[in-house]
Amino acid sequence: MTLLSRTRLRALALLAAFLAVCFLGLQFIRPELSNPPVLADLQAPAPVKLILRTSCYNCHSNETKLSWYDQIVPGYWLVARDVKLARSHMNFSEFGRMPAAQQSAFLYEAVNQVQFGQMPPAQYRLIHRGSIVTPAELEVLKNYLHPADEIQPADPAQAAAAEAEYQKWVPRAETLATGVPPAPNGMAFLPDYKNWKPVSTTDRFDNNTMRVILGNDVTVRAIAENNIHPWPDGSAFAKIAWKQQPDGQGGLQTGTFYQVEMMVKDAKKYASTEGWNFGRWRGTGLTPYGKNSSFAVECTSCHAMMPDNDFAFTMPIKDRAEPPGLFNREAALPDNLPYQPFRWGVITSSVNRRDGTMSTLYGNDVALTHARTSPQTPYPGGAVLSLVTWREQEDRHWFGGRIPGQVQSAEFVNVSARPDLQSVYSYQVYRGTPLTQTTLSEGPDTQARIDAILSQRAAVMP
Ligand code: HEC
Ligand code: HEC
Repeated sequence: MTLLSRTRLRALALLAAFLAVCFLGLQFIRPELSNPPVLADLQAPAPVKLILRTSCYNCHSNETKLSWYDQIVPGYWLVARDVKLARSHMNFSEFGRMPAAQQSAFLYEAVNQVQFGQMPPAQYRLIHRGSIVTPAELEVLKNYLHPADEIQPADPAQAAAAEAEYQKWVPRAETLATGVPPAPNGMAFLPDYKNWKPVSTTDRFDNNTMRVILGNDVTVRAIAENNIHPWPDGSAFAKIAWKQQPDGQGGLQTGTFYQVEMMVKDAKKYASTEGWNFGRWRGTGLTPYGKNSSFAVECTSCHAMMPDNDFAFTMPIKDRAEPPGLFNREAALPDNLPYQPFRWGVITSSVNRRDGTMSTLYGNDVALTHARTSPQTPYPGGAVLSLVTWREQEDRHWFGGRIPGQVQSAEFVNVSARPDLQSVYSYQVYRGTPLTQTTLSEGPDTQARIDAILSQRAAVMP
């Protein structure tokens, strides 16, 4: 061995010894990680608790148990940081302090985080194989949250509240809201959202709301041109939510207005929130949601689950079937219809639990204005309405939601005015796969369908 290599060896040994001392020294630099008392632990059946305890409690509870290899710095620093952050987002040891609805919302989000492989975090799963939630365990969690659909009883008080809200809204239904304060992050309220074009509809059984998603001109053009990956700058969505109002027979109508949420795309300007600006306004008073601008973290923590869809959940329904993956092809309407209701506005939407279907009522400008402003008089000549009914399908992007599946029927009511200004109604229906025009027996059947369509109350959009 030469002298040179011996010197080099010694240097290496010294370096190794130095690093070892540093490593040992670093072990003493430990951010404190304590387990505060468990005061309001999540209440759930034993099999559900077991899954969450095994996979989540190390970070999302005050019962953190670190394995020996988690205790070694620098790994320990990452674990300690994760636990603190995880507890601040969701802490099962303090779960019981939240109202039931909020607990349920967190659990649905938890299931979706697991379903999309976001939780437990990937680097944690690599080392802690036992924390991985198996498909069978995921089913246990899902069945606990949503065992089976039930027919909800009618709620006359809720129905009366919805009717009163509607009557109050009608006189100013067509005026655009003014003076609505911006969201705490500065995002302006966009009052013409209610005249934007339909993108899709959802039935959210996780929180008993009905939602309609509308898009602005840029969004509509992007959909027409199959240019939604990524969504171009200037695209905007409005998602309007109403409480589901049960009729006691399995039918759910849009009840009281709950909130409207908006997203506007600008990849550069909003780079810190996945390229989108987020805002939410609650109640007919349109009160901005969130204490400060950090409310948007809540939005992005969910929307981050959709990186392959540019952080938007909705798969737009097109009037023609288009490339798979990004669009909801199953729900597309064929070309052979007399009108394309997706170019109109949304009047309202409903669900039928017995049939497993959902419907949205669309109207051309004349119909939309009339439905919103003059419900006590007959629809005028020139109004055309369309009720489209789909079989529901589970939303693959969100356990807790259902979206339109195969189209079941498209019905059209066309209103024309006689010379004496009396309204005359004609009815057409398309049914089956593929949708084909069907004739109903003239008289009672047709009249019943016309009445059922024309009597629907417009959903409140303040
Ligand atoms: C290694 C620690 C760790 C484990 C284990 C873990 N999480 Fe998390 N979780 C986090 C962190 C950190 C965050 C904060 C979000 C972020 O910054 O990524 C988080 C966020 C969340 C959120 C978002 C809460 C919100 O703010 O809305 C949910 C839901 C969630 N985790 C569910 C789970 C579930 C369910 C499990 C078990 C199957 C789990 N997590 C296991 C670290 C963990
Ligand atoms: C718990 C998860 C979750 C959180 C938190 C969340 N969203 Fe969403 N968002 C969804 C889901 C799921 C959809 C798909 C439509 C539906 O089923 O309601 C959606 C859809 C939307 C849409 C329609 C466009 C799209 O992405 O499909 C807008 C606009 C929107 N959200 C805004 C917001 C805003 C603003 C916030 C924060 C104030 C927010 N969201 C927070 C889950 C979430």
